[in-house]
Amino acid sequence: MKPDVQEITLHTSGRLSRLLVGQSHDQLDRYLPEGKTVMITDDHLWDLYPALFKGKPTIRMGTGEKVKTLQTVEKIYRELIDLEADRSTFLVGVGGGIVCDVTGFVASTYMRGVSFGFVSTTLLSQVDASVGGKNGVNLGGYKNMVGVFNQPAFVICDCDMLSTLPTAERLSGLAEVVKHGLIGDAGLFAFLEENVAEARSLARTAALRMVSDSITLKSAVVTRDEREAGERRILNFGHTLGHALEKVCGISHGEAVSAGMMFAVHLSVARNLIPRTAADRIEALLADLGLPLRIDARPEELLDALRRDKKREEDRLFFVLLNRIGKAVVVPLMMDEVARELGIYYT
Ligand SMILES: NC(=O)c1ccc[n+]([C@@H]2O[C@H](COP(=O)([O-])OP(=O)(O)OC[C@H]3O[C@@H](n4cnc5c(N)ncnc54)[C@H](O)[C@@H]3O)[C@@H](O)[C@H]2O)c1
Repeated sequence: MKPDVQEITLHTSGRLSRLLVGQSHDQLDRYLPEGKTVMITDDHLWDLYPALFKGKPTIRMGTGEKVKTLQTVEKIYRELIDLEADRSTFLVGVGGGIVCDVTGFVASTYMRGVSFGFVSTTLLSQVDASVGGKNGVNLGGYKNMVGVFNQPAFVICDCDMLSTLPTAERLSGLAEVVKHGLIGDAGLFAFLEENVAEARSLARTAALRMVSDSITLKSAVVTRDEREAGERRILNFGHTLGHALEKVCGISHGEAVSAGMMFAVHLSVARNLIPRTAADRIEALLADLGLPLRIDARPEELLDALRRDKKREEDRLFFVLLNRIGKAVVVPLMMDEVARELGIYYT
């Protein structure tokens, strides 16, 4: 084992999940139970890391949101039946958030549920998607409409695998790391400010710190509120407008979250929750990491997308704002206030 490997445990609903930060994917066998294992991955990972699948039955799926569907789930069920997988079979998802979300859903439903684990291979899935037990697929153009809460037995976060990540995928993960610093870890935020180049290039030491601090924060939040009845909502910081931007402008998740966080920062300044100097620090860090601060969009279109947000409650939308760097607060905003601030911010 590498000397800098760290194990964080997540306890929820009587289950224990082992989160292994910095562990190498070639140590996978140590975490597998006796008996049959089936691997699930996407075509990219299959091509990039062939040794990981050698000698293990592997089910492959395509890539991108378009394959995160019930059709893919059914295809995997059928392949599991062909492989004679039974209730004692262990499933391992190897990939980013899409493979992990699909694998977790398949494992939770195949034969009423089998055990599963992940080798998480993108920064976004290591700091966010593979931790917290949300599994599911998209339906009819709506993201993550069908799913379950269920924790994997383990998640291997091999930071060395991040070296093959394309830039857009790095940026998506970095946006989530900044989010974690802003909502709950001022120390992580300061670390990013002081180590921008290392963070941006995902140098091993910086990657380990970002993944470990993010997982520690997210695990603590999820332990207190697994099913998003309250506190877990702070993890949506930047995502309310972010999802609208993603939909309206067709930009990447990371770009959308970054610009969405800046709008939430604008709202926080407008409500005198944080000073302008804090907003300037946040803006500087996002820009230094190569993330966009603002995306050109028409406020009316964004408002329309926000009205269709599944988290809207009648005339109110819950926005996550900042009390300070490292502390988030969930605030219900009336739609007309959102409309007014969008108008101010986007002119
Ligand atoms: N379950 C949750 O709590 C949660 C949280 C956040 C996001 N998500 C979901 O995660 C998904 C996005 O995840 P993602 O950003 O990891 O995307 P992804 O899974 O689509 O991976 C992005 C791309 O990178 C490739 N890739 C993966 N690892 C690689 C590596 N090491 N080297 C080179 N290429 C690699 C993949 O093949 C894919 O083409 C979304 O569907 C989102 O809804 C889930």
